Amino acid sequence: MGYNFDEVIDRHGTNSLKWDFAVERGKPEDLLSMWVADMDFPAPCEVLADLQKAVSHGVFGYTEVKQDYYDVLIAWFGERFGFSFNRRDVVKTPSVVFALALAVRALTEIGESVIIQTPVYYPFYEVIKDNNRIIVTNPLIYKNGAYSIDFEDFEKKIIANNVKLFILCSPHNPVGRVWTREELEKLSLICKTHQVIVVSDEIHCDFVWGENKHTCFGVLDENVIIATAPSKTFNLAGLQAANIIVKNTELRHKLKVELNKSGYSQLGTLGLVACQSAYTNGNEWLSELKIYIEENISLTKKFITSHLPKVKLVEPQGTYLLWLDFSAYGFSQKELDEHVTNSAKLWLDGGTIFGTDGEGFQRINIACPRSVLLDALKRLAKVFGE
Ligand SMILES: Cc1ncc(COP(=O)(O)O)c(C=O)c1O
Repeated sequence: MGYNFDEVIDRHGTNSLKWDFAVERGKPEDLLSMWVADMDFPAPCEVLADLQKAVSHGVFGYTEVKQDYYDVLIAWFGERFGFSFNRRDVVKTPSVVFALALAVRALTEIGESVIIQTPVYYPFYEVIKDNNRIIVTNPLIYKNGAYSIDFEDFEKKIIANNVKLFILCSPHNPVGRVWTREELEKLSLICKTHQVIVVSDEIHCDFVWGENKHTCFGVLDENVIIATAPSKTFNLAGLQAANIIVKNTELRHKLKVELNKSGYSQLGTLGLVACQSAYTNGNEWLSELKIYIEENISLTKKFITSHLPKVKLVEPQGTYLLWLDFSAYGFSQKELDEHVTNSAKLWLDGGTIFGTDGEGFQRINIACPRSVLLDALKRLAKVFGE
């Protein structure tokens, strides 16, 4: 391997949300942090070199991008997912969640309904509720340790609530599903039939495992909003750059108007540099990283089978976030969270932050050096092992 993902980099004292804010967030200070979805790896060295060049230049005036930025973006999504688009289709925003909120405001009215598939990444609830829209849930079916979509309920809820917008999480955080083309086609058909606009959050699209294949919703339907960012793929969340792809002119216009209303115009200089550099130079790094993460997943599976037989790991098809079912212990969520925090000394994401159907679960982020992961698993085994 050319890149060293084993190196442990101490992130304490860098104002890292993951490592430096336990006390502010009501947790003890001495936890091993495996929660929020960023990785404990540095960005690709090629990206760091481009950032250093920009920093050395020293002038940080307003920055825009030229055709070469769009060329690498178009190549990345074209080559990997067969999704083609043009420069004019791209709306740049500081983050994906920012774009989700824009879409809610731009494409629905106050009091209208937006549907989501739960349990799901918690800001999905916030961008709907805090913009005074109605949250309609289409709970995923959890059966024999695996998740699937309840299409009948999806359509029924859309009709019953006159749903206008669907925010899809693809691949899905936290349950780790990579939706098949057939599943997405079914969703697409239902949405078309009932004139529901789809916003597809595909921020985790570069992390799919084994035989699973990510299908970009934009390949199935042009009238959608595809939210992408290099932030998960290359660990650049703190640099705030996202690319929202909207091929439909009217939808794009509405989104742009809402962006203007927010008063936001140019992205940060360094975010743009990092984004372009990552999509230009990050391919090899990403290939090696994915092998490393897949090995982390295998190790976690083996460890759980041997040392934590009562914990069920939902088969991770995508994302570096694993969804662990502790329901066999019979704890309430509060008790489970307390055991994880106070006895195992871990900072994980308790299942119910993703919705009530996350009861009995914990989400663990395994995008870290293997020694850190092993430490975390051993802590779990001490408390929850047989
Ligand atoms: C599904 C999903 N969307 C969006 C985000 C956050 O993206 P951003 O930081 O660009 O708002 C995350 C981060 O965990 C996520 O899992």
